[in-house]
Amino acid sequence: MFEIVNKQILAEDVKRVDIYAPHIAKNALPGQFVSICPEEGDERVPLTVIETAEGRGTISLIFQEKGETTGKLGSLPIHESVFSILGPLGQPAKIEKVGLVVCIATGVGTAQMLPIARAYRKAGNKVIGIIGAKTKKELMLEAQMRIVSHKIFITTNDGSYERRGVVTDILKEIIAKEKVGLVYAIGAIEMMQEAVSITKQKNIAAKVQLNPVMVDCMGMCGACRVKIAGDLILACTDGPEFDGHQVDFEDFKVRMNAFKESGQCRSHTLPRSKARKGSTILTKFLSAFRGK
Ligand SMILES: Cc1cc2nc3c(=O)[nH]c(=O)nc-3n(C[C@H](O)[C@H](O)[C@H](O)COP(=O)(O)OP(=O)(O)OC[C@H]3O[C@@H](n4cnc5c(N)ncnc54)[C@H](O)[C@@H]3O)c2cc1C
Ligand code: FES
Repeated sequence: MFEIVNKQILAEDVKRVDIYAPHIAKNALPGQFVSICPEEGDERVPLTVIETAEGRGTISLIFQEKGETTGKLGSLPIHESVFSILGPLGQPAKIEKVGLVVCIATGVGTAQMLPIARAYRKAGNKVIGIIGAKTKKELMLEAQMRIVSHKIFITTNDGSYERRGVVTDILKEIIAKEKVGLVYAIGAIEMMQEAVSITKQKNIAAKVQLNPVMVDCMGMCGACRVKIAGDLILACTDGPEFDGHQVDFEDFKVRMNAFKESGQCRSHTLPRSKARKGSTILTKFLSAFRGK
């Protein structure tokens, strides 16, 4: 079970793995994720299910090697098995026919956007993709996004590829010209906040996926609380998709920064025995929010 049946290097630190997990392959819907533990005693990390192949019983994950756990997953060879995978987790994306959907993504959010864009297209919508990165080298999954989009726009901050600028520049232009039914944004918090702000001015529906730090991914630790329409909601059980107009992005930024300041990240700064890893992270995380 959980054998890595295929592995691809998509960019320097971005990998795709296809893993044999027939129960998840059968049940996962666009927008859902898994919690994966590469080897016994490792932390668990949430990763979006990018594709499923029910016939082969596999799920595909695309991930950036950000720290210890994603690095460990990326180092496992084909035919090795990962220790455990829980899923599918989270709420599936609510896919509707709305006409024109603009799917705007940066960084690893582009991987998470793939199943969403594909599902909107399958539901009969026209899909315009806008993907961006700081430089051409950091641009992810261009070919895959071209396939799922009717039209695609690409920006790089330094102008090393396609349009110089940021993805939201293009969003403004599209909204000025076309009747947009929905803007769906996944990626950097500032980008999602700006995209939502643009849609608010024009009264256009907006959805985002929030990726707060998650510990148990099962609604028990409270680590992933986000403020939606004034209420604290758990992103792991009620998200990760939310109505962009209801997200309190300022609160979200404070929470993400509080975690970084208290723990830096889950692996680099915490020398500890493997057996105690999970509880150490949770304690650090919760102490970051005491009183908030
Ligand atoms: C629902 C959900 C779906 C996700 N899907 C994907 C995906 O499909 N592909 C992918 O590459 N990543 C995805 N992520 C982000 C991924 O879970 C983190 O990159 C991973 O947990 C980092 O773990 P690590 O041990 O390798 O790094 P750590 O050593 O724990 O952290 C390394 C760096 O990553 C940052 N980080 C930690 N957790 C997160 C997080 N949740 N979001 C953003 N930054 C984080 C830390 O602050 C630190 O700067 C998703 C996150 C969530 C919540
Ligand atoms: S990660 Fe959501 S409650 Fe623990």
